[in-house]
Amino acid sequence: MVQVDNAHEKVLVVDFGAQYAQLIARRVREARVYSEIVPNTITAREVAEQSPKAIIFSGGPKSVHASEAPLIDPDVYQLGIPILGICYGSQLIAQQLGGTVDRSGRGEYGRTELSLTVQPSQVLPTEVATGDIVWMSHFDAITDPPEGFIISASTADAPAAVIEDTTRRIYGVQYHPEVAHTPHGQSLLERFLHEAAHCRADWTMTNVIDESVDAIRSQIGQGRAICGLSGGVDSAVAAALVHKAIGSQLVCVFVDTGLMRLGEGDQVVETFQRTQGIELIHERAADAFFEVLQGVTDPEEKRKAIGEKFIRVFEQARVGITDARFLVQGTLYPDVIESGTSDAAKIKSHHNVGGLPEDIDFELVEPLRGLFKDEVRAVGTELGLPDEIVWRQPFPGPGLGVRIVGEVTPEAVTILQQADAIVREEIAHAGLERDIWQAFAVLADIRSVGVMGDERTYARPIIIRAVTSEDAMTADWARLPYEVLENMSSRIINEVEGINRVAYDITSKPPGTIEWE
Ligand code: XMP
Repeated sequence: MVQVDNAHEKVLVVDFGAQYAQLIARRVREARVYSEIVPNTITAREVAEQSPKAIIFSGGPKSVHASEAPLIDPDVYQLGIPILGICYGSQLIAQQLGGTVDRSGRGEYGRTELSLTVQPSQVLPTEVATGDIVWMSHFDAITDPPEGFIISASTADAPAAVIEDTTRRIYGVQYHPEVAHTPHGQSLLERFLHEAAHCRADWTMTNVIDESVDAIRSQIGQGRAICGLSGGVDSAVAAALVHKAIGSQLVCVFVDTGLMRLGEGDQVVETFQRTQGIELIHERAADAFFEVLQGVTDPEEKRKAIGEKFIRVFEQARVGITDARFLVQGTLYPDVIESGTSDAAKIKSHHNVGGLPEDIDFELVEPLRGLFKDEVRAVGTELGLPDEIVWRQPFPGPGLGVRIVGEVTPEAVTILQQADAIVREEIAHAGLERDIWQAFAVLADIRSVGVMGDERTYARPIIIRAVTSEDAMTADWARLPYEVLENMSSRIINEVEGINRVAYDITSKPPGTIEWE
């Protein structure tokens, strides 16, 4: 498995159970320092073995006074490695090193004003002044820091909002520097990383590409590798990276399910075969997919039918590639973290196009398993992939199949492809592409009465779905301007035959999901 080169200095982000650990790790990397998330059960010895340049404790939902409050091995404080605790992490430092954390405070949620106290500080950026806004979310508060610490800032309900032991280089901030609502947050992290912990800024995408290329070459040697392309950004970047490393030893397989967006199949072929010069097997399998979808209306059955057919077509395609022992996958770091910790209930059986059939005997090549999505995009751009691929919206493995409520037929797909293209064109036209997580059309299986010209119509509606999101775990419906919705609606009615009504989905997630099936 390709691992990130150990030559990088590393920061460990200890996860105390908040969803903020990933965000902290991303912000550290934005400061060009490599970071990894580790569980709070890590021992001091395990920390020492990894020789991190610094450690950050994340926030967490528990009180340090709760009986099952997650702790850290206290020997970690003896390692001489600079530590920054954030929110719960700060309180934990205070508690474990002999300070007092008060549980009777009123708590603060949201924007709060900071007041500077003892100066100078080693972590507060020099431009920070009393009255600056920080973003809080806490109930308990440190009232008395441990011996050796100074209080360098406070807020109305957090008398020790920033604490520092400049000799031992242990720091705590009660507010959240990792969120955008704390304007000087990124500078605070950078001061901690670069000035207090002396981390080098060597995590650049150019370095990442060079190191991955070396690692891929040493893993694959003279062997051959297969990569399943879905048209999505992850498999595209993985393929481009592996191709840079091993050239013609890589063969890509693109299964055209017939359930892709308008023109998407051609674009994948154009980009990879013609522009990048990658050997590509293009399986045109639409008929086979429509056949297995005949009469299927249940969403889970649909997903299963598409997933199974995909594997069969993929297997067929690889028959000709006899000596391939490696399979390239676009697994990302969040998938790696989540598969280690997640026990979330299954809501939909996700099928990833390009996903590994369980019974296939390949060695995996996963060059992106250390990267976040924004880093993958940066690598893609650096490798010369076009914006249309690098900035493509997430698209579900089963494609338009799960956006057609009811039976999936070629006619329904044609209608949906046209409507979907209009939705995306209008989003692009309004310059909203990067503000919106996903915007697409859904074809519902109901009919309503309308009138077009002088004729009565009785036809299906298109539902427009547009959401904003950080990570697809939660989402909000996008407040699209009325003119944009109006353009979409009138173009869909006028240009797409078989549609006489357009509706806008104003459900957030939860309780809805982003996709309709
Ligand atoms: P839901 O509908 O669960 O979707 O809110 C969350 C995100 O995942 C995408 N999605 C999928 N991606 N295979 C995928 O690779 C799938 O089967 C699948 N189903 C949903 C969806 O587009 C959204 O971004």
